[in-house]
Amino acid sequence: MFIISEQEIKEKVKEIAQRISEDYKDSKELVLIGVLKGAFIFLADLVRELKVNCEIDFIKVSSYGKSTESSGIVRIELDTSIDIANKDVIIVEDILDTGLTLKYIKELFLARNPKSLKIAVLLDKIERRKVDIKADYVGFVVPDKFLVGYGLDFAEKFRYLPYVRELSKTEYSP
Ligand code: IMP
Ligand code: MG
Repeated sequence: MFIISEQEIKEKVKEIAQRISEDYKDSKELVLIGVLKGAFIFLADLVRELKVNCEIDFIKVSSYGKSTESSGIVRIELDTSIDIANKDVIIVEDILDTGLTLKYIKELFLARNPKSLKIAVLLDKIERRKVDIKADYVGFVVPDKFLVGYGLDFAEKFRYLPYVRELSKTEYSP
């Protein structure tokens, strides 16, 4: 059973926050945009370790439905409310899988003329990538297994777990 413990996540989040704090220490306007719902815990923990001021916003997109396979269709369910033009933006996402979702969001935000745009993900399933996209801050490179916890769900369940673990076969077969 693949597991990333609460302690390992905590240390990694702190490490990423330190890097962001250093990289953006001279930034005038930093905006972190969490991708709902999966990134809500990562974003909440991340900003509390930052040493730089930032604005926080969210975007909600859907691409998954209830199955464990990406549909490839990305739809905006809730857009940001902060104007990101001329600001330093970091998109915060739980997991980079096929990359379809983040590629779509990245292009959407680039069209709004931010000063800079980077991506932070807690988990990266590199093997599954279908489109060319890379995250600038990556917590853990993970195997091609369906993962839940720390914000990640299976049919809306398991987000509450303070750690990340593999979903077992008995949990997703009816
Ligand atoms: P992508 O568009 O295929 O990169 O999918 C990204 C989205 O799919 C993430 O934001 C997650 O919501 C979801 N996702 C991908 N892999 C997993 C997983 O292992 N567990 C839970 N959700 C996942
Ligand atoms: Mg998500």
